[in-house]
Amino acid sequence: MKRRKQSEGMNRRDFIQRSAAFAAGSMVMGVGTSKLFGASTSRRSALAIETITLNNGIEMPVLGFGTLYLNDELGVRCVAEAIGLGYRLIDTATIYGNEESVGGGIKKSGINREELFVTSKLWVDDSGYDTTKKAFQTSLDKLGLDYLDLYLIHRPRGEVQASWKAMEELYKEGKIRAIGVSNFEAHQLEELMSYATITPAVNQIETHAFFQQEKAKVNLKKYGIQQEAWSPLAQGRNGHFTNETLAAIGRKHNKNNAQVSLRWHYQRGIVSIPRSSQKAHMQENLNIFDFKLDEADMQTIASLDLNITQFPEWE
Ligand SMILES: NC(=O)c1ccc[n+]([C@@H]2O[C@H](COP(=O)([O-])OP(=O)(O)OC[C@H]3O[C@@H](n4cnc5c(N)ncnc54)[C@H](OP(=O)(O)O)[C@@H]3O)[C@@H](O)[C@H]2O)c1
Repeated sequence: MKRRKQSEGMNRRDFIQRSAAFAAGSMVMGVGTSKLFGASTSRRSALAIETITLNNGIEMPVLGFGTLYLNDELGVRCVAEAIGLGYRLIDTATIYGNEESVGGGIKKSGINREELFVTSKLWVDDSGYDTTKKAFQTSLDKLGLDYLDLYLIHRPRGEVQASWKAMEELYKEGKIRAIGVSNFEAHQLEELMSYATITPAVNQIETHAFFQQEKAKVNLKKYGIQQEAWSPLAQGRNGHFTNETLAAIGRKHNKNNAQVSLRWHYQRGIVSIPRSSQKAHMQENLNIFDFKLDEADMQTIASLDLNITQFPEWE
């Protein structure tokens, strides 16, 4: 019901054109849809990254590329390399100060715009109705794009209601294919949904082996909001890359700790966006679709949960 309302609310011509263009891009790329995420199983190419269907009907890759700290020339190179390797979801934010670099990387990659799924985020200082619209346009200009696939409220601070209203309008005008939030706790989501006419499609939150967010996962599923993991590798904190529990599981499957973690996110139905500045790591992080963690592995990883943020300085 909700989904239908949202599609009807969009600028229909844009929506149809973009959906058709995206579908065509998907065909060329061979984007598949995910069995684990509950969609159909029409995978068309072994190299393609599967997609999930968001609550407004648009497709989002289950694995993407994070760009925090990838600025200037480094950002251009990494984004171009990641796209060259097969990443299609690129995650940036105004506060990262790298939207121009991300845009440069996209351009350098030579990929068709329709094949990508680009996310940016509204920073706290830009919250408010007019300021959100202005910040959104600035993001587009810096990225060199004329629409975003996903635009998120970065943190639940400032004038959230006014920002959401502006984002709903941009969505209905066809300038954003999906709108969502980041770092929202249950009560903050509930408050937003009390006035929203469009349910957020995504909540991007800290999620990794040491902060598994099981409660949030259940809650988001209940609302039909897709969970997206930021710092899916915990940025290597708490000894993630040398953790013996993850390593033992990895030995069983001939995979490393990063791959075990990313596969674990995937099997939990969570979109993840690992970042890397090294091409070899980018490639490793894509190689998670040729093995399966068994029930015992999943249980063992569940036991690593410390149920507390590993980024207290960002609270
Ligand atoms: N919404 C929010 O508030 C929020 C907050 C934080 C992050 N994010 C988003 O989430 C993305 C991911 O999070 P993150 O960047 O904080 O951290 P992350 O992806 O968890 O970890 C990145 C670190 O892991 C290393 N790494 C990556 N792959 C590896 C591999 N296969 N083997 C060994 N080391 C590996 C990278 O080093 P190398 O470069 O050496 O590979 C880098 O130091 C960000 O880039 C950003 O887009 C959003």
